[in-house]
Amino acid sequence: MKKWVFSLVLFLSSISLFAQEDFKIICGPYLQKMGENEVTVLWITNREAVGWVEIAPDDSLHFYADTRPTYYQSINGRKAIGRLHCVHVSGLEPGTTYRYRVLSKEVTRHEDYFVQYGHATGSDVYLRTPYRFTTFDTRKDTIHCTVVNDIHGHNDIQKALLANVTAQKTDFVIFNGDMANHLSSETQIIEDFLQTATETFAAETPFFFARGNHETRGQLAYEFLDYFPSPTGETYYTFRDGPAFFLVLDGGEDKPDDDIEYHGLGDYDRYRDEEARWLKDVVASEAFQQAAFRVVIMHVSPVNDSWHGALETRRKFIPLLNGHRVDLMLCGHTHRFYYAPAGQDGCDFPLLINPTEHAVDLDISTQQLHLRLRDTTGKTVKTFSFDAKH
Ligand SMILES: [Fe+2]
Repeated sequence: MKKWVFSLVLFLSSISLFAQEDFKIICGPYLQKMGENEVTVLWITNREAVGWVEIAPDDSLHFYADTRPTYYQSINGRKAIGRLHCVHVSGLEPGTTYRYRVLSKEVTRHEDYFVQYGHATGSDVYLRTPYRFTTFDTRKDTIHCTVVNDIHGHNDIQKALLANVTAQKTDFVIFNGDMANHLSSETQIIEDFLQTATETFAAETPFFFARGNHETRGQLAYEFLDYFPSPTGETYYTFRDGPAFFLVLDGGEDKPDDDIEYHGLGDYDRYRDEEARWLKDVVASEAFQQAAFRVVIMHVSPVNDSWHGALETRRKFIPLLNGHRVDLMLCGHTHRFYYAPAGQDGCDFPLLINPTEHAVDLDISTQQLHLRLRDTTGKTVKTFSFDAKH
């Protein structure tokens, strides 16, 4: 190689070396799938890495007092390499507060028999207080949670509605669908709502995501559960905290599957059939019947709407829910407030559609479910109370 060519290659490679940004976390951590004995921690790095979570008790000792138990994302026994880190932490005690940090070590070369690591990055436990979370506890008498929906990428609205969420006051948040207009790329998910959520509350307060019809759209829609894993591996699932059992349903798309807007990809009628088969077992389960309150979360409303998705959920889900002591169903989608008391519209339970730009605060004790609708200024708009069905 001629000397000047060699110098040019050296010069250009040094530019690209200096041009590369530092290895870092670009979003997260955020908490998912909180349970009595487990939690899943997710975060995203700008380049491929091995990631892990360290857990420490919430005691007076510094995080650096000891080597902390470490949890990795492993695939069939082999630690995962990637940018989206999803670490399941198990073996935790119910109703217990833990401190944690996330760490990632960049993988700069990955060959069959050689792996080269670069720099490490993680959440700080030295200059700032380590992140904390508290596991769920079915023995707890009261819980508080907040539900928002139809934010459609408006970070200012999300921020205003969830600004007061803290791990001390709020056990969890529920995104009841349409947090974005579609899921086209990771950057768009981060920018539309995930960055705001992680910076506002989600590093310490878990959120559950009921998929909205807009989250079924876009090239990244297939990866929805990679970013927002559920306990069942489907977009419908259940969870329990304190006196309340939550049933999260997926109403799917709102138009007929063969609508031109879905470009031949809609297969939601069949998905709702599978979901209905699963739902039949859930409502008959002891866990469902024994809870003091049963709250159903679904983005698409089965009432006050005559689009195909709404009619499907009314036909397939409501007959299964009626007669099983449901205490409340919370929906979104129409962007307009609607309330139907038990017995109206073919449902033997009350149903409330939360409008966009409002949050629903639920305070649930063993005796009463109190619901407050709040606007972006924090003003209470409406309240409802429901007694436990004994
Ligand atoms: Fe919607």
